[in-house]
Amino acid sequence: MADATGFDLKGSAPERYEHYVAPLMAPFVTALVDAADLYPGATVLDLACGTGFVARAAAAQAGPTGRVAGVDLNEGMLKIATACHPRLYPDIEFTPAPADDLPYADATFDAVLCQQGAQFFPDLDAALRETARVTRPGGRFAATVWSHLDDSPYFVAHQRAVEQYGPPEKAADFRAAFATTADRLPTALTRAGFHDTTSHTLTFAIELPPLEDYIPGHLSAIPWGQALTEAGGEQALTRAADTIRAHLPEGTTTFPFTATLVTAVR
Ligand SMILES: C[S@@+](CC[C@H](N)C(=O)[O-])C[C@H]1O[C@@H](n2cnc3c(N)ncnc32)[C@H](O)[C@@H]1O
Repeated sequence: MADATGFDLKGSAPERYEHYVAPLMAPFVTALVDAADLYPGATVLDLACGTGFVARAAAAQAGPTGRVAGVDLNEGMLKIATACHPRLYPDIEFTPAPADDLPYADATFDAVLCQQGAQFFPDLDAALRETARVTRPGGRFAATVWSHLDDSPYFVAHQRAVEQYGPPEKAADFRAAFATTADRLPTALTRAGFHDTTSHTLTFAIELPPLEDYIPGHLSAIPWGQALTEAGGEQALTRAADTIRAHLPEGTTTFPFTATLVTAVR
């Protein structure tokens, strides 16, 4: 079992994550849930659920007769997930656990969804073996991970700022989050016992809120921004936010974001 993660948010950052990351994730949440072909009564796991964007969308599809669970290492994220659960859906059970040691019986879920989590698993093979174990035969797996950094100019601007102001190990973590997971997932899924894997590139043009407030807020809600503040205080975060804005085209808040959507059948 591995408790390590490249995405460790502390203190009040999970609350800001829910607020600032929501606009970036919204169209990808819809695409991911659509890819799993959920239906009323489905049992669904949101793996590395964070504050629960996908779990909430899945619960809307599974309906009152369904069962939705969310699992994540970070209890701060789960606290926000629990607070944001609107209680119109089936109850969502949020449980702290690492992806490679899931607290569920074999073949529990009709579908396992994972949005932007797989790139942070310290042992991808072990996590996918556990995922295969808890997915019923014939059940669906769907995950998104960011594609190569160059496909998302907003993140290229972030990288420049993290490399300029952040500790080198955090800059390396940032690059790793956009590295090879998308390419590794299909074969890793096959090794874990899934079949019929597919891989698609998804690009959405996303309109962000006014950047002057959005960028520092977003930075403060992700581990790399947190590291900047720890190393150089609020001033470092402000300087990094200014650098990000300087690297983005002027006169627009709409940027393309590209992720790879990988699906498989158990
Ligand atoms: C970028 S966030 C994505 C959260 C959520 N899926 C979403 O769509 O916003 C990555 C999440 O993966 C979780 N995570 C990272 N490594 C993990 C592991 N080994 N086991 C479980 N969760 C993990 C982090 O705690 C974090 O909540």
